[in-house]
Amino acid sequence: MAKKKLNIGLIGYGFMGRAHSNAYCKVNKFFDLEYEPVLKATCARNDEKRSAFAQNWGWESEESDWRRLIERDDIDCIDIGSPNNTHLDIALAAAAAGKMVLCEKPLAMNAEEGLAMTEAIEKAGVANMVWYNYRRVPAISLAKQLIEEGRLGEIYHYRAKYLQDWTISPDLPQGGEGLWRLDADVAGSGVTGDLLAHSIDTAIWLIGGISKVSAMTETFITERAVHDDPDTVKPVRIDDACAFLARFNNGALATFESTRYARGRKNQNTFEVNGEHGSIYFDLEDAHQLQFFDNRDDDHVHGWRTILVTDTEHPYMDHWWVPGCVIGYEHTFINALADFLKSLEEGQDPVRPNFRDALETQCVCDAVLESAATEKWQDVPSADAK
Ligand SMILES: NC(=O)c1ccc[n+]([C@@H]2O[C@H](COP(=O)([O-])OP(=O)(O)OC[C@H]3O[C@@H](n4cnc5c(N)ncnc54)[C@H](O)[C@@H]3O)[C@@H](O)[C@H]2O)c1
Repeated sequence: MAKKKLNIGLIGYGFMGRAHSNAYCKVNKFFDLEYEPVLKATCARNDEKRSAFAQNWGWESEESDWRRLIERDDIDCIDIGSPNNTHLDIALAAAAAGKMVLCEKPLAMNAEEGLAMTEAIEKAGVANMVWYNYRRVPAISLAKQLIEEGRLGEIYHYRAKYLQDWTISPDLPQGGEGLWRLDADVAGSGVTGDLLAHSIDTAIWLIGGISKVSAMTETFITERAVHDDPDTVKPVRIDDACAFLARFNNGALATFESTRYARGRKNQNTFEVNGEHGSIYFDLEDAHQLQFFDNRDDDHVHGWRTILVTDTEHPYMDHWWVPGCVIGYEHTFINALADFLKSLEEGQDPVRPNFRDALETQCVCDAVLESAATEKWQDVPSADAK
């Protein structure tokens, strides 16, 4: 049967522009879906780099202004792969134009923006998803399955870390491709919005909502040059590191830690869950494995087991290679896109995480930053529909 075409307009040719383009190219090769994304138009401001990107990935046309992209009648779905300070305006305009919206994380600069975006998207009634792609790591999806099967019983503890080391040099400027993460005006926050947002999304998905937090943050390098004006040095206003305690609504306790100053840690995203009957542990740097301890095993075989998450019974793996062959980072975006396209088929549930889910994570991020500023516990405001 002929596939239904879904014309994509992608904003941004950077890291996520590549990850998303790859997903659009591959998804129908590995998943049997009614819909087929068409790489219709890509948008960014640098003509030369955008054209090279469009040619490399096979984008049919180009725009230099995202407003023009949204106005186009031949675009069904806007994909926001540009820095955080652009998400609000693009999402509002896309919703007003009745386009579906895929948005990179974090949803917004702060919860106020995120709420406006969520309300606009829900009012427009358009399909939407936020690219919290780690939910689609098969081992993390398996963790969710084990928890839902009751294998851990009541959950007592959640322990998350997200560590990197690439911003230690004081010579890095604030601003520019990738480095916009060091500029609070573009990123909104530092590791809290960039890295812990992933950890929080995973935690909420696995365990449930977070009710209160107590946080501390630090900025180790307090001044950096401005990227397009190297003689100007400005204060750094992002958090380089953040650690916080949290309580879930269901009574479980959590600790979260993130920094870009952990020498040797490139992208170490880990979590451990401890429950009444067992525990699980995941590390993104060994993404094809899930560690599982089951206290209901016979005493003489008690011990942590390593599950190689490559069998056809494991989440998503029936779409990939034979058991024993691992998949990688890029596949999490393909898996997410497949779920989004599947959700568009008749009778399917809307895909998650949607804007409302991402707003919940944004509310936790805001409460974390507020707690660090006030040095007090903060209640996390509800992101439920008003
Ligand atoms: N899901 C994930 O794991 C993940 C990983 C990395 C980044 N992200 C998110 O993706 C987004 C982009 O991050 P990145 O790492 O790809 O950044 P990047 O710096 O690599 O690329 C950003 C792109 O946006 C373009 N851009 C900037 N302003 C624009 C504007 N006004 N109009 C059109 N294009 C514009 C730039 O030209 C560039 O092509 C951010 O929100 C980031 O938090 C998510």
